[in-house]
Amino acid sequence: MKTRFRVGILGATGAVGQKFVHLMAAHPWFEITALLASERSAGKTYSEATTWFSADPMPERVRKIRVGNARESADVDFVFSGLDASVAGEIEAEYAARGIPVISNARNHRMEDDVPLLIPEVNPDHVSLIDRQNYSGRGFIVTNPNCSTVGVVCALKPLHDAFGLEAVHVTTLQALSGAGYPGVSSLDILGNVVPFISGEEHKIATEPLKLLGKLTGNGVEFLDIPIAVQCNRVPVVDGHTISMSVRLSGNPDIETVREAIRGFKSPLEGLDLPGSPDRFVQYLDEPDAPQPVRHVLAGKGMTVSIGRLQPCPILGIRMVALVHNTIRGAAGGALLNAEYLVHRGYLTL
Ligand SMILES: NC(=O)c1ccc[n+]([C@@H]2O[C@H](COP(=O)([O-])OP(=O)(O)OC[C@H]3O[C@@H](n4cnc5c(N)ncnc54)[C@H](OP(=O)(O)O)[C@@H]3O)[C@@H](O)[C@H]2O)c1
Repeated sequence: MKTRFRVGILGATGAVGQKFVHLMAAHPWFEITALLASERSAGKTYSEATTWFSADPMPERVRKIRVGNARESADVDFVFSGLDASVAGEIEAEYAARGIPVISNARNHRMEDDVPLLIPEVNPDHVSLIDRQNYSGRGFIVTNPNCSTVGVVCALKPLHDAFGLEAVHVTTLQALSGAGYPGVSSLDILGNVVPFISGEEHKIATEPLKLLGKLTGNGVEFLDIPIAVQCNRVPVVDGHTISMSVRLSGNPDIETVREAIRGFKSPLEGLDLPGSPDRFVQYLDEPDAPQPVRHVLAGKGMTVSIGRLQPCPILGIRMVALVHNTIRGAAGGALLNAEYLVHRGYLTL
């Protein structure tokens, strides 16, 4: 690609916005040309407006960019959104209405009938829902799922394809970066576990049903299975750990299930998308894997790690998955969605 897309980031100063900035610093197709946030940040340089918390330094070329007000328009080819959900619904719709495609992390538009909720390795055909949207010109909205949903669905996809899912019980151990910045108060979380994350259990119980649903002439027919979810916030910086018990059709044995995970072929293989990891999921044999500290950066944060596959006396099988919540679960996932949309011809220069 000779010319690069001019890209804006809505919510550029937040936890997800910073990941976008970091991941796009050397992107071969996308160039950051606008950083947008609330009126509190607007007018400041990006380095003044942002509490940068990545261990890698802030990329030099964004430090002096003046942050714009996300409510005003920007001269860009498309935007990524890491906006707070209190404003994302309205602002994202305004961009799409101005003819600017929006690739969003926020929850607001995820479950709308004509909006793809996309993980390109899982439901690439759902992108054609864009054709049903009525925004002006080239405008549309595509969303990626909740960060824990991403871990759940990436781990379940090989099993759904090979056997069919019948019931799932999920318990999450979610990292602090999932709560944004400044997030959870230190006195609430140091040496503690908080068994409540507002709105999260509902998202994880419902979003997989759309992601794993079938595209029909009338839109997506949701998968019809029960998913029970319990969420916990734990004192981990990055990486949501997810324990799952699953009932599969035909009750396959553990070895057959492990082979299905190891043998899954990503539909993105051979497409040469810059953000696509070598392995969509990896199975780890060590008895104490996966762990956030050791495995969260597998595939540069884009590979979901799975381990501890064992028989479950209640549902059949159980396992543990680990997802990088701000990379595969947010900015990296959105970046891959945009690359896939370029491949499919929905994002063009
Ligand atoms: N963190 C994760 O792991 C994760 C994963 C998946 C999805 N998400 C979703 O991604 C979104 C961002 O999450 P986050 O963790 O990055 O949150 P965050 O750190 O709180 O950042 C929120 C961003 O929204 C901007 N914002 C807030 N109020 C605004 C307003 N009134 N007008 C315009 N901009 C406004 C903030 O700008 P200022 O700095 O100027 O206030 C900031 O850039 C949320 O919708 C979240 O649910 C997060």
